[in-house]
Amino acid sequence: MRLITLLAGRYVAGDTLRDELRAVRRLNLRGMAATCDFLGENVLKKGRAEKATRSYIRILESLHLHHSDANISVKLSQLGLDIDESFCKKNMEQILARARELNNFVWLDMESSAYTDRAISMYKFFAHNYKKHLGICIQAYLRRSESDIKGLISLHPNIRLVKGAYKESSQLSFPQKKDVDDNYRHLAKLLLTSGPGLIALATHDERIVHDLIGWMKKNKIHANRVEFQMLYGIRKDLQQKLAKAGYKVRIYTPFGRQWFPYFYRRLRERKENLFFALKSLFHR
Ligand code: FDA
Repeated sequence: MRLITLLAGRYVAGDTLRDELRAVRRLNLRGMAATCDFLGENVLKKGRAEKATRSYIRILESLHLHHSDANISVKLSQLGLDIDESFCKKNMEQILARARELNNFVWLDMESSAYTDRAISMYKFFAHNYKKHLGICIQAYLRRSESDIKGLISLHPNIRLVKGAYKESSQLSFPQKKDVDDNYRHLAKLLLTSGPGLIALATHDERIVHDLIGWMKKNKIHANRVEFQMLYGIRKDLQQKLAKAGYKVRIYTPFGRQWFPYFYRRLRERKENLFFALKSLFHR
């Protein structure tokens, strides 16, 4: 059995685009949309960044061909941001241009705080020309995020709100989980009341999801203003429950061979995942 299946199979659709399209089809049949993530980050060779760019364009074309309800999400460090910013911009523009031609959508993942400024300026650079085709992820654990959102609001941005998955200092981020959760609620309400474009509430935290749905009802904010986003393989019960209740649900579905950093972040989020991963290695 391949290592990816053994270890990361719960979180990753497989090695190939074929695996990914199969996973997307299954999600679509269950009433959910998908976001395709071709795994890879911190690329330091131009050739690899160009290859990732071509792969993303191929994904967009395949999704179009198969009439899939799915978009894509990219990491700027995979498209060459660590090599040269203008090179990365060129790659990003190629992907965005194809996404617009095919009437699709590109999410910018948010990586560690070393990239936050550059990701936000990249978003601002493209937001005007690709308004309906580009969104950016904002992390509630960062102290700066409220001011980042306020700085973006005039662009009517498309924002995916997450808690944040990287190890950050307490100077930059809230060290206590409760403060991250409170800030998530606060930023979600800020987004819902300040009129950006698409708002993606990306969390598996059932209590937060439940509270925000109640808050939207109370404040007469229609559910079609938001989509709930979750990661492939996490809280499938909640994914299905929300979809059945008629909410738009989108599942972030990674594939590819560079799965280790993504898998590691998922392990870190819940210590017991490490135990399950080790158990799957020894009990087959
Ligand atoms: P929390 O960590 O409080 O978990 C709530 C519950 O979800 C847990 O009690 C458990 O039941 C379940 N759960 C959470 N993580 C789990 C895991 N790994 N395994 C099993 N169960 C788990 N981050 C980032 O920094 N940049 C980004 O671009 C993105 N992009 C992104 C897209 C989408 C669609 C999602 C859903 C998430 C991201 N993230 C991200 C990851 C995000 O920052 C965060 O690390 C995870 O979503 C876990 O946080 P929760 O909000 O789920 O809450």
